[in-house]
Amino acid sequence: MQIDGRPYRTIFPDPDGVSVQVIDQTRLPFAFELQRLASLDGAARAIRTMVVRGAPLIGVTAAYGLAFAMREDASNAGLDHAVAALAATRPTAINLRWALDRVAGNLRQVQAPERFARAFAEAGRIAEEDVASCRAIGNHGVGLIAEIAQRTGRTVNVLTHCNAGWLATVDWGTALAPIYVAHEAGLPVHVIVDETRPRNQGAALTAFELNGHGVPHTVVADNAGGHLMQHGQVDLCIVGSDRTTASGDVCNKIGTYLKALAAHDNGIPFYVALPFSTIDWTLRDGVAEIPIEERDAREVTHLTGRLADGGFATVEVVSPGSPVANPAFDVTPGRLVTGLITERGIARADTEGLLGLYPERRQAA
Ligand code: MRU
Repeated sequence: MQIDGRPYRTIFPDPDGVSVQVIDQTRLPFAFELQRLASLDGAARAIRTMVVRGAPLIGVTAAYGLAFAMREDASNAGLDHAVAALAATRPTAINLRWALDRVAGNLRQVQAPERFARAFAEAGRIAEEDVASCRAIGNHGVGLIAEIAQRTGRTVNVLTHCNAGWLATVDWGTALAPIYVAHEAGLPVHVIVDETRPRNQGAALTAFELNGHGVPHTVVADNAGGHLMQHGQVDLCIVGSDRTTASGDVCNKIGTYLKALAAHDNGIPFYVALPFSTIDWTLRDGVAEIPIEERDAREVTHLTGRLADGGFATVEVVSPGSPVANPAFDVTPGRLVTGLITERGIARADTEGLLGLYPERRQAA
């Protein structure tokens, strides 16, 4: 997608052939800065500190991290160490583990001297596949928006949570891909953007993306969604996912479950957009089995923002001394999900629905 008229991806190889550039998402929306990653430690830190974030993007970054590790120590022990270090950065999004397994499996088939080039090329392939998957998600999902536009004859209001746009992937995004495709096709679409406390990925990143592409949108406080749904101001919800079980339970940014409950109560379709790399075929009960990342209490107790003079400030917003909890994700049971928008089409959010789209998984199920 574009920033200031220039096409960008969130991660792209440097001309030196041994490093990548990423967009530093901790600086958005107020500053656009690139960061160079060239080491295992650098890649792991970028994921942990959320310089890069979003399930598909951290998968691609981890794949490159494994490549960098192979320049540092390409032995089997070095490979095991790098996989463990990268896997420990963020526990919930399965794309990260999926990418590590794919690259490491590939590397175990070759000798140490070949490993860096192998891993770097494989990471590049994962990035390209992610772009193609997200574009296909957009093509499959746009029909949902087109159908509502045709039926109602007015602008379609789509609510989204967190950032599941191009910044969360390599390009296009998951939940935002159908919106971008709709906007490009001239369909009347307006996005209701949940701010998404505590890190404000909606207010900072989704709004930044939509602004950059001229997509009409309105940022709302997280708690506004239910009220808007009750008053007919939401036609459709589309969110992303960090891990979806084989039975269709969806793990996504904290607060997603509450939106799904409100959508269910108001008869509003609730769709989840995800590529195949987000599906954890080993799990059946998302609430019981998906590990939920607990992040630093400071994300809840403090807010950072821009001052009127252009400077930045971090301020405390919670009564000092109060205990704080910060679970970063929640799980929406498949029964509350109208459908899963994948690169292969739209599936019911249950085992049969997913197996219908991925029949090669039937034997394993
Ligand atoms: O903690 P984050 O910012 O990495 O969380 C991101 C989300 O929850 C996204 O909605 C999710 O990764 C799906 S996006 C493609």
